[in-house]
Amino acid sequence: MSNVPGNSEKPPIGVIGAGWVGLVTACCFAELGHEVVVREIVQEKVDVLSRGELIMHEPGLPELLKKNIDHMTFTTDMGEVLDRTRLMFVCVDTPPTYSGDADLSRVQQVVREVGDSNDHALIMKSTVPVGTGAAIRRDKHDLAYVSCPEFLKEGTAVDDFMRPDRVVVGADAGDWAGDAVEALYRPLGGEMVRTDIASAEMIKLASNAFLATKISFINEIANVSEEVGADVTEVARGMGLDTRIGPKFLQAGIGYGGSCFPKDVTALKQLAGNSGYHFQLLNAVIEVNELQKRRVIGKLKKHLGDSLVGKKIALLGLSFKPNTDDMREASSLVLSARLRGEGAIVSAFDPVAAERASELLPGVEIENSPLAALEGADAAVIVTEWPEFAEIDLAQLHATMRTPLIIDGRNLLDGNAVAAAGFAYEGVGRPSVGSLDTATDNSSQAPAALGATTE
Ligand code: UGA
Repeated sequence: MSNVPGNSEKPPIGVIGAGWVGLVTACCFAELGHEVVVREIVQEKVDVLSRGELIMHEPGLPELLKKNIDHMTFTTDMGEVLDRTRLMFVCVDTPPTYSGDADLSRVQQVVREVGDSNDHALIMKSTVPVGTGAAIRRDKHDLAYVSCPEFLKEGTAVDDFMRPDRVVVGADAGDWAGDAVEALYRPLGGEMVRTDIASAEMIKLASNAFLATKISFINEIANVSEEVGADVTEVARGMGLDTRIGPKFLQAGIGYGGSCFPKDVTALKQLAGNSGYHFQLLNAVIEVNELQKRRVIGKLKKHLGDSLVGKKIALLGLSFKPNTDDMREASSLVLSARLRGEGAIVSAFDPVAAERASELLPGVEIENSPLAALEGADAAVIVTEWPEFAEIDLAQLHATMRTPLIIDGRNLLDGNAVAAAGFAYEGVGRPSVGSLDTATDNSSQAPAALGATTE
């Protein structure tokens, strides 16, 4: 055994990759009392982080970084990580390739740089195809290897890290590193799942694919509910009380997005296909999600007529979900492109994603307040359920918009209250309320008009 530190109760931690997973992991371990060395190849990021500044929006993380900065080192030098730590978390990204397989080039680069030391353990946080760990183990006999997938959600990642439902530790039987990783996470509580490497890798992919399946399932129930007059929020409540089903991830909307679900569902489908198995269910999950993002167009046309040319459509929320500025695979990307394709004028507001969004949404007028985006609009579309949109003053909104039409892509608002304020309202999987015939005439909006559908 070398003199590399690592046997103490709070061993130093290496983190490779200062992306979202890496930074959450690094700051949380620092908060737990570990020295943390973060290796990041982009010098600019290293400089910013070394000053205690963050480059993405994640609640609670700036505070953790500031508080623990004296115990954290940011460097481009892998040698520094190897010298100062034994337990190295790999947190580099594994984006999809054109074939749908995960791109493992960054992981492979790290493995090459780490070498074949018998002092170090590589702990894989990056989401990788099943079999990646086995392939690395075949090449690097001496390097200890643990699959420790992350289950953090953007927006609540710090809390998820500190209070995990479960921690999955996949390692070869008898490998010291499996015990070392278990010891790191034990103080946090949560069920400890010790298993083999391949099963740990599969747990990650299967968990994300299952959650995505749950969403596509409830989205299809929503679509059928619209046809037959049921309310999906009631249906989800009734279903979710069955403890075998559970209430979470049954919120119908205009599709899931983010850096994980779309990529991981495709990667699992591809992995199955590569090994000769046709994973039929996941094809449907992906297709339903793609179509779900486009359903808003039909709802707009139902009220505004077949042509959207010259109509101003305001998108409220651009990030793939609230409490993050992450725009990856956000429904807003597809929706704004479709709207522009239809000839509509698209304006938008997002509380934190505006800067990132401006590069990705050419031709979209991104405003710095909801009312500015809604000025003269023919429809407001709630794309992301930021809580502040639920607080919007409906009377002011009515006075601001040209046509009082709200398409609530996340079922954030109370449709009846919106209709009572003089709007036509369309949620997802709920009966529509109000109609533009009556909605434009504010004085005629007596509560008696509530529940009137546009059908
Ligand atoms: C997801 C998983 O929830 C995490 O456990 C996992 O660690 C992470 O991916 C990852 O692999 O790194 P995240 O992408 O942050 O986390 O987002 P979620 O909160 O899971 O939401 C994903 C998408 O599903 C969002 O677009 C959200 O709007 C949508 N969603 C979620 C629904 O449409 N309905 C729901 O009921 C729940």
